[in-house]
Amino acid sequence: MEDIVIRKYKRKDRQVVRDIAWETAFMGKPASVFFSDREIFSDFLTLYFTDYEPESCFVAESKGNVVGYLIGAEDEAKLKKIFIFKIIPMLFIKAITRGVLLKKKDSEYLKNCFNGFLNGEFRSPDFSEDYPAILHINIMESFRKLGIGSKLISSFLEYSTVKKIKGVHLSTMSEEGGKFFKNNGFNLVYSAPRSYFKHILSKDIIVCIYGKKLASQ
Ligand SMILES: CC(C)(COP(=O)(O)OP(=O)(O)OC[C@H]1O[C@@H](n2cnc3c(N)ncnc32)[C@H](O)[C@@H]1OP(=O)(O)O)[C@@H](O)C(=O)NCCC(=O)NCCS
Repeated sequence: MEDIVIRKYKRKDRQVVRDIAWETAFMGKPASVFFSDREIFSDFLTLYFTDYEPESCFVAESKGNVVGYLIGAEDEAKLKKIFIFKIIPMLFIKAITRGVLLKKKDSEYLKNCFNGFLNGEFRSPDFSEDYPAILHINIMESFRKLGIGSKLISSFLEYSTVKKIKGVHLSTMSEEGGKFFKNNGFNLVYSAPRSYFKHILSKDIIVCIYGKKLASQ
């Protein structure tokens, strides 16, 4: 644990952040369980953070290697705008040109997401007023439970407090993740079932949103 260094994200970390995002996307397991196009899914998970707001991102290094990250955004409303008007159209074109819809695994997952969208599953209360900042955190499997995640959270909360941000929120579908966030001072503010992994798990998953208000300085 002594050899762990938490530092701000640098441009050279972009690929390793994408790799960790892919390796941990399915409740800590690889996204390959439900998707095959690594490039597109890594873009979906990380592109906003690494390319539009790198200053709000942190990494954890062990012996010079990045083993985990926290990618954050100060203002979810700004993130959503860029996501809808820039990232989604780019991903749509990429998906067509790379033939994603012709790949069974990918098309099945996307079909489930689309059905969930039509059923209103993606509607949730707007947390950007009380908790404007958002974060995603992932640690490589062999480096979990060493205190790295808690250190990354502390760094981001300190950064957000200095920036006078009112609160931070995040969503997780992992039970272990939920316990971790509660132990780091977050409260459950919303939970709802989602069906997009039903073809793999034969049941809905519960997505939980956790929030933490910050003291304004
Ligand atoms: C959830 C996650 C980010 C937590 O990161 P982490 O580095 O494992 O977190 P920490 O080590 O700080 O804390 C995890 C637990 O290990 C315990 N721990 C910390 N140091 C320890 C040590 N040296 N020995 C034993 N246990 C230890 C903590 O008490 C904590 O217990 P808790 O789960 O009861 O709160 C990480 O497990 C992860 O990436 N999981 C997969 C993906 C995921 O769920 N991401 C979150 C959703 S976005």
